Amino acid sequence: MFEGINYHPNVLDRPAQAALVEALRIAVQAAPLFTPVMPRTGRPFSVRMTNLGSLGWVSDKAGYRYQPHHPETGQPWPAMPDVVLDIWQRFANYPRLPEACLVNFYQQGAKMGLHQDRDEEDFAAPVLSVSLGDTAVFRFGGTTRGGKTQTLKLSSGDVLVMGGASRLCFHGIDRVLSGTSTLLKEGGRINLTLRRVTMP
Ligand code: SIN
Ligand code: MN
Repeated sequence: MFEGINYHPNVLDRPAQAALVEALRIAVQAAPLFTPVMPRTGRPFSVRMTNLGSLGWVSDKAGYRYQPHHPETGQPWPAMPDVVLDIWQRFANYPRLPEACLVNFYQQGAKMGLHQDRDEEDFAAPVLSVSLGDTAVFRFGGTTRGGKTQTLKLSSGDVLVMGGASRLCFHGIDRVLSGTSTLLKEGGRINLTLRRVTMP
């Protein structure tokens, strides 16, 4: 494993996963999933997304950025559920709370190309992700594009922390293995990515 990547399997048991999915269903009614597009090209992402917290990550033709409101409704993002804040406090090893929780929804065939998370001001804080639903093949490597990579399967209830030397590692999702979880009635995968955005 690369230095600074910490994998914690089975942090949430099945009832806790189901309760979190229910909280997300309610949040998505207020802040609907949207399809982001790539800067400049306008090419749509294969995942749909929304956010929770005081700041949300968005991507459109103008670029990547954090903003306090939903791009379509103009409303503030819903609050983060306590359970995700608790996970941050247990595993992030960072004194301040996250400001952004990106919710990525992967339906059949969705994936995420290798990228770095670098739209934050504060790289001292780790990036923490929680996986729900079908298992994903997560690929990660070092901090330069084109270097050696390895894969890790992320299953429902697992937590991954990218901090320290791995805070700016390249990472992505090769594919989601359909039928590997019964958590989401229609299948698919949800990934929550918690980040601290601003400097203290
Ligand atoms: C991301 O890097 O934005 C998502 C990673 C994941 O879905 O596990
Ligand atoms: Mn990322």
